[in-house]
Amino acid sequence: MGSQPAGREFGKLSALLSRLAMPAKSPKPAKTTTASAASAQTDPNDIRPGQSLELLKALHILTRDGKMNQDSRRKLKQVYHLFQFIEPLLQDVKDARGSLSLVDHGAGKSYLGFILYDLFFKALQDDSHIFGIETREELVATSQELAQRLGFGGMSFLNLSVADSITSPALPETVDVVTALHACNTATDDAIRFALAKQARHIVLVPCCQAEVAAVLRKNKGVQLAGNPLTEIWRHPIHTREFGSQVTNVLRCLQLEAHGYQVSVTELVGWEHSMKNELIIAQYKDLPRRRPAERLENVLDTLGLQEMRERFFTAPQV
Ligand SMILES: C[S@@+](CC[C@H](N)C(=O)[O-])C[C@H]1O[C@@H](n2cnc3c(N)ncnc32)[C@H](O)[C@@H]1O
Repeated sequence: MGSQPAGREFGKLSALLSRLAMPAKSPKPAKTTTASAASAQTDPNDIRPGQSLELLKALHILTRDGKMNQDSRRKLKQVYHLFQFIEPLLQDVKDARGSLSLVDHGAGKSYLGFILYDLFFKALQDDSHIFGIETREELVATSQELAQRLGFGGMSFLNLSVADSITSPALPETVDVVTALHACNTATDDAIRFALAKQARHIVLVPCCQAEVAAVLRKNKGVQLAGNPLTEIWRHPIHTREFGSQVTNVLRCLQLEAHGYQVSVTELVGWEHSMKNELIIAQYKDLPRRRPAERLENVLDTLGLQEMRERFFTAPQV
């Protein structure tokens, strides 16, 4: 991620949303104020019953003295907007299995996990659990402290790469829901690999930039350009990058379909902090796999991306 342009690197998506507060200097447990105890300083229409005001303060959605301004009202709306996509998936698993596990990859400051926990998991009387996977140790420590402070016992944070989490004994054999929001570069692909290995029922991805496919397009440009006029689409460097990014998401969708998932792709509307606001939601339906697998293969061949076959594998891995 260090090689990405600074403006893109660290979550325009979450630039405002995810500024979790640093752990309080004093380790004293926080008062567990909830929205029912919200002061008159906040508009009751903005905050849902039972929502943790401590969390909203930690997310900088509320000021320390519990106030909300125009900007934070907008942030909260965006949080609810994302939640509205994920909530039905959580409910689906809860109804089918009684409890659920969710793994959030490239969790960063874990604002997504915290919001999901506060709005959905907190009320469940079962062993449902959210795991946050993050390579930056200090973010893992901060999230652990915040979860403890809020009494969110069904949350764990693991200092692991997405790739290593696939075989980590700290995670369950199967996982119901996998999320990855702006997980850098190929971490989204590792999250897909994780989700397939863990037989996830639902996968929610908002991919970040992925440089790998663009690099292969660039490398093979000379050979490709000779034969096919469509290669004009990625002749200029900026087009190589953008087209590479687009193709990456297309390949990801085909890969998921080739593993039996139904895939929908939409825009995370209102997420104007980010240039990367493509939302991919995949639901396991055991759909026929052959055609998407063939299409994926064809796209790789057509674009001279044969060497990416392993990245976008379609056969089940043993
Ligand atoms: C752009 S931030 C997004 C954070 C959060 N998901 C959000 O949307 O606010 C990407 C995060 O992924 C982490 N990350 C990058 N590559 C990773 C990997 N291979 N495994 C685990 N975490 C990774 C980074 O340290 C960073 O915190």
